[in-house]
Amino acid sequence: MKSIEFSKPNLPRWDSVKDKIKSIYKSGDVTNRSFRKALEILIETDLGVKHAIAFNSCTTGLILCLRALGLPKDATIGVPDFTWFSTKKAVEWCGYNVKYIDINRETFLIEDVPDDVDAVIPVHVFGNRCKVEADVPVIYDAAPAYGMPGLGKDGLASVISFSPRKTTTGIEGGVVITNNDEFADRIRSFQRYAGRMSEINAMVAIENIKRKDEILKRKKEIYEYYRKNLSGDFQKITESNYDLIGWMAPEGFADYVYNRVNELKIRRGYDQKTNLPNTTYVNQRVFRIPTFCDVDEEEVVKCITKYL
Ligand SMILES: Cc1ncc(COP(=O)(O)O)c(C=O)c1O
Repeated sequence: MKSIEFSKPNLPRWDSVKDKIKSIYKSGDVTNRSFRKALEILIETDLGVKHAIAFNSCTTGLILCLRALGLPKDATIGVPDFTWFSTKKAVEWCGYNVKYIDINRETFLIEDVPDDVDAVIPVHVFGNRCKVEADVPVIYDAAPAYGMPGLGKDGLASVISFSPRKTTTGIEGGVVITNNDEFADRIRSFQRYAGRMSEINAMVAIENIKRKDEILKRKKEIYEYYRKNLSGDFQKITESNYDLIGWMAPEGFADYVYNRVNELKIRRGYDQKTNLPNTTYVNQRVFRIPTFCDVDEEEVVKCITKYL
């Protein structure tokens, strides 16, 4: 039985990177050098933000943003519980308290920020734009959001991931973006020591950002194909890069299919810690279905439809 992969990195063409990899090897400048700087400048220009500061992962970036806020030891940070582990773990690893915030059932995004938090980390879930108003510092977890309209326009800072499954992957990597000069200085002061970005990662991210339009066009095409050909609901999209597609399977499908049919490598929701009603509702129904650029979307639909 043919199995359908959940994910495959959208790597730039070998021809566009092979000479650069050689030159990085030869030069001995393998980390935190000119490609990292070039990536930061490219992102600042592409997004129209004042500062882009690169690290080895988004998780590192989130932790450093929290540290740079200089909050009291017993601070409480608001986060959604519908997200990848890193959002919550960044808070816990800084020793702060986590306060979970429920999401909207249709958009999968948080909307309101409670009064009793010292900062908040909203997530652009699956690359769909989240926007909150708050009197406390807002650090967006923008891990899946490169290419999303409006990225970097809101909040004190946003942190992007360039890990393997992301739209413009650098194989690994994370970049903090901000328009605040003082905050940028604080984040930059960590850059020599904590989670340095390797030159190969920076170079691969650059090559992918250069072909961003081509990748985004393909992702939108895959999204539209699934919408047209699969029954069930989808995450309500406002401004998105279609990084992942949240498909709400019809009742019964989830329990029947999950973990029993090895041809369908699709992923369910997240490991949930709370009993927040909307988060639970979405978590029990949602599947993330494959959106990597060379996925055979017709085959995926055929496979899923057999079990509907
Ligand atoms: C919402 C979210 N936050 C954080 C991360 C962590 O990114 P990284 O692996 O670059 O640390 C991810 C990665 O998948 C993510 O999806």
